[in-house]
Amino acid sequence: MNQRVDYVFKVVLIGDSAVGKSQLLARFARNEFSLDSKATVGVEFQTRTLTIDQKIIKAQIWDTAGQEMYFIFYQYRAVTSAYYRGAVGAMLVYDISKPQTFEHTVRWLEELRGHADKNIVVILVGNKSDLVTQRAVSIEEAKEFAETENLFFIETSALESTNVETAFLTVLTEIY
Ligand code: GTP
Ligand code: MG
Repeated sequence: MNQRVDYVFKVVLIGDSAVGKSQLLARFARNEFSLDSKATVGVEFQTRTLTIDQKIIKAQIWDTAGQEMYFIFYQYRAVTSAYYRGAVGAMLVYDISKPQTFEHTVRWLEELRGHADKNIVVILVGNKSDLVTQRAVSIEEAKEFAETENLFFIETSALESTNVETAFLTVLTEIY
């Protein structure tokens, strides 16, 4: 039987390779996690239907390969426009144990702002919060960056299932 759907929201995942985009999606869509997750090739999406304020919302979450982000070439990436088209939310993910992935969020934001709708809701996500002893990006500096850029901010662990639901719900609720 077809379920009634009030809204379909497209949300895109962006950020460097291996920060955990696909595992955040696996956790949110199927409550699964894999430690030997393969790098994503091309574009994939998964959906989850949920209820917010008695409205049935179908979240369509798009996921692509972070490693295609080579700064010099990114403007030519053929799928870029299609990936962002129609997106009303974005999760910009970095790995709290890999400072470079945090530094690159500036570039991802540039790409996003170049291609996405100007009203898109963006959340900065510091993933792998379980890697406590390997932390290399402080909550303070990430928060400060998020405030400057007008982004929501949260730290998550797809592994331990910490804040994953909250991260997605923050975006979906704000869109709604
Ligand atoms: P690309 O598809 O190449 O862009 O990478 P991705 O961002 O989709 O990364 P992916 O989800 O494949 O995860 C990369 C690696 O990090 C995998 O070995 C995951 O198991 C691991 N990983 C993902 N999330 C977490 C987390 O919260 N904690 C820890 N410790 N490892 C994680
Ligand atoms: Mg992936």
